[in-house]
Amino acid sequence: MKVTIIGTGYVGLTTAVVLAYLNHDVAAVDKDNNKLNLLHTGESPIHEPGIQDLIDNVGHTIRFTSRFDEVVPDAELIMIAVGTPPKKSGEADTRHVEDAAKEVAQFCDPDKHYTLVIKSTVPIGTNRRVAEVVNEVFSQRKIQGDVSITSNPEFLQEGLALQGAFYPDRIVVGANSDNAIEALRRLYKPILEQTFDPPSWLPRPPSYHLPPMMTTDPNSAEMIKYAANTFLALKISFINEIAGLCEEVEADVTEVARGIGLDSRIGHRFLRAGLGWGGSCYPKDTAALLGVAAQAGYEMPITAAARTVNFQQRKRIVEKLRAVLKTLHGKRIGILGLAFKPNTDDIREAPSLDIIRQLVAEGAKVTVHDPIAMPNTHKLLHDIQINFVEDVYQLSYNADALVLVTEWELYHRLELRKLAKQMKTPILIDGRNVFSPQEARSAGFHYIGIGR
Ligand code: UGA
Repeated sequence: MKVTIIGTGYVGLTTAVVLAYLNHDVAAVDKDNNKLNLLHTGESPIHEPGIQDLIDNVGHTIRFTSRFDEVVPDAELIMIAVGTPPKKSGEADTRHVEDAAKEVAQFCDPDKHYTLVIKSTVPIGTNRRVAEVVNEVFSQRKIQGDVSITSNPEFLQEGLALQGAFYPDRIVVGANSDNAIEALRRLYKPILEQTFDPPSWLPRPPSYHLPPMMTTDPNSAEMIKYAANTFLALKISFINEIAGLCEEVEADVTEVARGIGLDSRIGHRFLRAGLGWGGSCYPKDTAALLGVAAQAGYEMPITAAARTVNFQQRKRIVEKLRAVLKTLHGKRIGILGLAFKPNTDDIREAPSLDIIRQLVAEGAKVTVHDPIAMPNTHKLLHDIQINFVEDVYQLSYNADALVLVTEWELYHRLELRKLAKQMKTPILIDGRNVFSPQEARSAGFHYIGIGR
């Protein structure tokens, strides 16, 4: 199929390369010339395991451009995958989605049918608004225009994006027309039937089942996206709330999570207690859902509480440090990990940022390490004094405490004894419950985890 994707961010680019790999004829539009320049030289503008391999493999078949007029008229299916950043009120700003829809409508051929797919995460009802925008442009152009608008929310996880794209749990399509549903079924056919040859480095998981394509109305599809992210966010906040109580009553939250996860109605996943969620999705989407609810005059206390618990986790870590060090002023603190989760250099809404700012505000001397997120952090935290180290062991020289914030694989294999030996006071706050308390203690650490 001839597909045009608008936006080469994390979702747009992943979708573009995967569809190209599935032999679709893909074009991608972006306004950011820096990104386009990188893509033209075959380089990925985002950090995502496997994406560079796919660009090396099929990138040359994708037309990357800033011009809608070059790639809209001929397309059969056009996907909008631009950002929906939060407004001050927390609501998602759909301006870029509407602008993209306007540009599309501007260059649609009046004699052709198009399927316009909204992939960006958008407030419920955006599909209707996009239809209005498209029709306004058509009436300015004095043409009839034939565009079916569909909602096809994305469930990719950063760090696992390609796995999620090739082997999704489900594909959700919200549409009012059979034509549009048919177009999306054709688009995703190789995935729905798993007829493609997997990339050698991403084999089909042996237990993987063919994914269903669920079709529904557009508003419900938009709601599914927010409800899914909010449910996962509150699952994590729930286990973090239990973790706090475990500390009071001397229970171990990792054991509790194991025990409740064995109930198949609950399941094991997303029950890792720790510093909670960050990133560009849960913080933004839970706020946006509350924004949608506020507009409807509806209260959502569970969603609001999930946010409260989440952001408290960051403060609790600093309280733990304060409790054990008495004062933070002048203390040397080493931070293990800056990214909001492993395998990404994304630091948006990362717990590390709040923790570092708090520590620096209280007069601590902060040294940080992350395998790939240090350049982004450097840019963002240029206004405060922190040290960056390339060698993780340097964090512990003369340090008063270490705080593990992101559970990078490399940290699992650290020589704890070596770290502890170099420290002034060997205190380890394990914000993701990565280490075994016994092992950390026998390596010489005063170990403090979350909920254990
Ligand atoms: C999330 C969803 O998982 C995707 O399905 C969705 O498509 C995406 O948002 C989006 O809306 O674009 P992502 O933000 O990449 O994906 O990250 P997750 O892997 O879901 O993790 C989010 C945060 O939760 C991380 O900070 C992680 O450290 C934290 N987390 C996760 C926990 O604290 N405990 C857990 O048990 C699991």
